[in-house]
Amino acid sequence: MFEGFLHTSIIKRAIEKGVVEVEIHDFREFALDRHKSVDDTPYGGGQGMVLMCQPLLDCLKTITTDDSLVILMSPQGQTFSQKMAVDLSNEKHIIFICGHYEGFDERIRDYVDMEVSIGDYVLTGGELSSMVISDAIIRLLHGAIRQSSHEDDSFSNGLLEYPQYTHPAEYDGTRVPEVLLSGHHENIRKWRLKESLRRTMIRRPDLLEGRTFTEEELKLLEE
Ligand code: ADE
Repeated sequence: MFEGFLHTSIIKRAIEKGVVEVEIHDFREFALDRHKSVDDTPYGGGQGMVLMCQPLLDCLKTITTDDSLVILMSPQGQTFSQKMAVDLSNEKHIIFICGHYEGFDERIRDYVDMEVSIGDYVLTGGELSSMVISDAIIRLLHGAIRQSSHEDDSFSNGLLEYPQYTHPAEYDGTRVPEVLLSGHHENIRKWRLKESLRRTMIRRPDLLEGRTFTEEELKLLEE
C-alpha cells in the first residue's frame, strides 16, 4: 500500500533530498507461531478478531528510540488537523502503528503516546490514515516544497484559502477579478484576506468560533 505514496512526486523528492526518512516495518514478522498470527478472538466473545500485544509490541521495541513519538492510528483518537500537522512536523521520529481495524488489545494503548483519527469514519486499516498524516507533515518540512507555498495554506492562519486564478484573464466569459491584474500588492493582500474571511464564513463558520479577529479583519468584515 505504501509503494505509490513513497514513489510519487513531492514525497519521493523529499526522501531523495534527505528531508525525511521513511521505513515500513511488518510486525507480522514478529509473530511466534508458524501461521504468523497477529490477531486472535476477543475474550468475552463477539465478532471479529483483535490485534494481539506480542507481535506488535516486540516490533515496536526494536524501532523505538528516546526521540520516538508513538502514534496509534484509530477512529477513536484525537481528530487530525493542520495544527497537529504543524506540531508533528517538529518531531524527530514518529512511529505510526497501523492495525487492520477490528480492534486492538486494550493493553497496546499503554505503549503509545497519542491516538489519532483522520475523521469520523472507519477504514479497513490504519495504513491510509498514516499516509494522510505523513503527507501533511512531510510537505511542511524545510526543503520539501517552497516555504511560501504553505504560508497561505487553508487553515494555516485559521481561515480557508482565498480564490486563486491563472491565465487567461478571461475564460468562457468570466474574468479574473481586476484587482489581481492591477499589480497593486497592498490591494491584492486586502482582497485576499477579505475573500478568505468571506469563504470561511460561508463554508466553515465553525472555524471562526472563538477567533480573535484583528482590527483589519473586523474592518473588512464590515465592508
Ligand atoms: N483506522 C481505521 N479507521 C481510522 C480512522 N478514521 N482514522 C485513523 N485510523 C483509522
